Amino acid sequence: MAVLKKNKNRIIDPVCGMTISRKDSAIRSSYLGMDYYFCSERCKSIFEEDADAVFAMKAAREEVSEEERTESLDQMADELAHEIRNPLTSIGGFARRVHGVLPENDPGRKYLEIVIENVARLENMITKLVELKTLGAFHAEPSDFNRIITETVDSFGKEFAEKGVNVELDLTDSPLIPLDTDKIKAAFAALIKNAVEAMEKPFKLLKIATSIRDEYIEAEVSDTGKGIPKDRIKYIFDPFFTSKMYGPGLGLKFTQRVIQLHRGTISVKSEPGKGAVFAVRLPLKGL
Ligand SMILES: Nc1ncnc2c1ncn2[C@@H]1O[C@H](COP(=O)(O)OP(=O)(O)OP(=O)(O)O)[C@@H](O)[C@H]1O
Ligand SMILES: [Mg+2]
Repeated sequence: MAVLKKNKNRIIDPVCGMTISRKDSAIRSSYLGMDYYFCSERCKSIFEEDADAVFAMKAAREEVSEEERTESLDQMADELAHEIRNPLTSIGGFARRVHGVLPENDPGRKYLEIVIENVARLENMITKLVELKTLGAFHAEPSDFNRIITETVDSFGKEFAEKGVNVELDLTDSPLIPLDTDKIKAAFAALIKNAVEAMEKPFKLLKIATSIRDEYIEAEVSDTGKGIPKDRIKYIFDPFFTSKMYGPGLGLKFTQRVIQLHRGTISVKSEPGKGAVFAVRLPLKGL
């Protein structure tokens, strides 16, 4: 699991973004009942002149740095896949060869089986990373969105029955939408898989509801799972962010990329302990 280190006591100057140590926090101003601290009298006077403009600037600065963070994480994921792929193929290939020639009763066999199993897990991760990178080439054609949803849900039929997941579909009539059917199915499958994995309590309900709003169709995928803690929700679309034993934490990144390729958006709301709701919006007119 990704470990997030955060110093909750950090004081940030809202004007220049500098960190202020506690001992230097004498330059202060109040606004709408809140105290703000500054690194200099100059920052304080800029703030007091127009606090709203300072907050707007701060929000814009945070948006840019969030975009840069996402971009560099995506780049890191691509590079990682590239570097790991070949050595991994050798390790897996040689381990399988040695395993094949060892006598049945050789004690080394079980160690090699562990190596082979773990290499397979890493290979699966690399395959997912490569899939992410090659997503750009896609083929959209007029598609029946409701059918995509029902077929994706049906593909989980056996798992729902085994795990006792109830499913409720509330699908609105929709015109044909230009979509890459296979990719959209895989994107929703990743959301459904997460929902199922999050539901541990006896009452398990997965709901998918669609509605048409302005130029978009919106699909809400909600569950009655454990929900997402507030301090983590910002990171769930990051590659490799996972709270699961074997992640690897690429499912939502894949879904987000597919939706973005269709010029759509995905957002999430969650009440910890009660569940999560993922809202996907896709333009009716496509690209
Ligand atoms: N419906 C949900 N309810 C609760 N937490 C969720 C839900 N969907 C996603 N998450 C959180 O977001 C994290 C990232 O999800 P993501 O699908 O990207 O990776 P993953 O499920 O951990 O691994 P995989 O690569 O197999 O999908 C999850 O580990 C989980 O903590
Ligand atoms: Mg997942």
